[in-house]
Amino acid sequence: MSIPTVKLNSGYDMPVVGYGTWPLKGRRATDAVLAAIGSGYRLIDTAAAYDNEEAVGAAVRECGLPREELFVTTKLRGADQGLGSTRRGLEGSLERLGLDYVDLYLIHWPMPAVGRFAESYAEMADLQREGLIRSLGVSNFLPEHIETVTTETGIRPALDQLQVSPSHSRPELVADVQRDGIVVQAWSPLERNTGVLDHPFVTAIAQRLGVTGAQVVLRWLLQRDITVVPHSGDPGRQRANADLFGFELTAQDMAAVADLDTGAPVKQDPATWEEF
Ligand SMILES: NC(=O)c1ccc[n+]([C@@H]2O[C@H](COP(=O)([O-])OP(=O)(O)OC[C@H]3O[C@@H](n4cnc5c(N)ncnc54)[C@H](OP(=O)(O)O)[C@@H]3O)[C@@H](O)[C@H]2O)c1
Repeated sequence: MSIPTVKLNSGYDMPVVGYGTWPLKGRRATDAVLAAIGSGYRLIDTAAAYDNEEAVGAAVRECGLPREELFVTTKLRGADQGLGSTRRGLEGSLERLGLDYVDLYLIHWPMPAVGRFAESYAEMADLQREGLIRSLGVSNFLPEHIETVTTETGIRPALDQLQVSPSHSRPELVADVQRDGIVVQAWSPLERNTGVLDHPFVTAIAQRLGVTGAQVVLRWLLQRDITVVPHSGDPGRQRANADLFGFELTAQDMAAVADLDTGAPVKQDPATWEEF
């Protein structure tokens, strides 16, 4: 199975579907990443905060593919934000991953009250110039946070990883971020299987198209030009979650899934959420 790519504003190509590794750790994480790579995933999403970078790095070495065929994303944890500590944060991640560079480095949360995300991003720009990071990105950033880092460095992030799913479709936020040529990547796209995959609107479309509810939801995101990093510990579900390119949702299907938006704010509000 071959997963299409999107070109980032850094010039690098990124697969539109990646494998999310939270909450796996240790050998289970290594085996799950190996299975995902075996199913065709080339983008692996990890984070310093997930405590599984060593396990992901082991899979990257064991899978037998050349490094340049894989796209590894990791994230700067809150505790490492700041001048000097951002460099140490990335160096620690590279050491645990056993890699010379990461394809994409994200600031995990902006934590605006801490006031260090802009200087962290500026230090990431230095690390990019040194070749340790290919593309600069952010996660859970609102447009005002993106504006701040872009003004600070003159480098617009390539990507913003945001919580987006049918219950939280966030159309205005997604449009604002995409308008500036920044790729949106959805985390928890399947809402951790808490009900949306079995909603009658979703299962009706799934039955008609002969796919699963998860495939409907992921395809709905892709057709909004939102890239995705679903997680599954199960090799069969991993494979199905990446098999999204042999069917299409109609405009009516797109509207039916969009109708599932609860309108409720996300629990982890990027304006206030802190995670160290
Ligand atoms: N940037 C951030 O702040 C942030 C925050 C959270 C997550 N993330 C990233 O985003 C990734 C994905 O998010 P997530 O793990 O929170 O949630 P998710 O991908 O929405 O859901 C994962 C859950 O859904 C189940 N699942 C997966 N495929 C399924 C299918 N086809 N049918 C039924 N159930 C299915 C999985 O169970 P099984 O394992 O049993 O299949 C797992 O419990 C994470 O792994 C992480 O890499 C980033």
